[in-house]
Amino acid sequence: MSGVSTVVSRELFDYVAERAHEEDPFLIDLKRAAEDAEIPSIWISPEQGAFMEVLLRSAGARSVVEVGTLAGYSAICMARALPEDGRLITMEVSPKHAEFAADWISRSDVSGRVEVRTGPAIELLPDVPSGSIDAVFLDADKQSYHLYMEEARRILRAGGLLLVDNAFAFGRLLDEECDDPSVVAIRLFNDALAADPDFDGVMVPLGDGLWVSRRL
Ligand SMILES: C[S@@+](CC[C@H](N)C(=O)[O-])C[C@H]1O[C@@H](n2cnc3c(N)ncnc32)[C@H](O)[C@@H]1O
Repeated sequence: MSGVSTVVSRELFDYVAERAHEEDPFLIDLKRAAEDAEIPSIWISPEQGAFMEVLLRSAGARSVVEVGTLAGYSAICMARALPEDGRLITMEVSPKHAEFAADWISRSDVSGRVEVRTGPAIELLPDVPSGSIDAVFLDADKQSYHLYMEEARRILRAGGLLLVDNAFAFGRLLDEECDDPSVVAIRLFNDALAADPDFDGVMVPLGDGLWVSRRL
């Protein structure tokens, strides 16, 4: 028999969001400046940021790799969970996004903990030593998720966390009419991760769906 489940309606989702800890003025200013700079507003939601911060803090994470920096919003949220000597490397292919993020990160409370690396993540990830990372967050081009997954498998220590954004494929996961390549890639990725013997995990219905998975 299945357990009790409550379908997460829009209203319930808003209720959850309203009770996540408040976004601070620095992050609000960062988003406003990013919009002024015509950077797309596709950063994680504040409640997802709060959740990831709690998760990383409870896991005692000291080293994080992020794929997909954009304006630096999620990098700052995650870096706040790390100790003073913790380190977050965030990878970004767009020089415009990377420069914007590096500037804002340098003025943030976590400037000493975050390094922005510019280039295609698939070329940057091989520089990260095997088994050295406590958590990986994937949030870039969806059609490369399966490649990033292999690098995550290599760089995560046993027990390390794999977080993956957009598990709900921009709300189109179950739309059978939709054959957008990113949506198709996410469907394949979800099935592959769910069946992967090296990871356990669950999709959490926050933001656009977040995989929280552990390297066994
Ligand atoms: C959804 S945004 C990331 C949002 C960010 N994680 C946040 O929540 O604040 C995706 C980013 O991935 C970057 N990106 C796309 N393809 C990439 C690649 N091959 N390597 C590295 N970054 C890539 C895009 O330029 C974009 O800035």
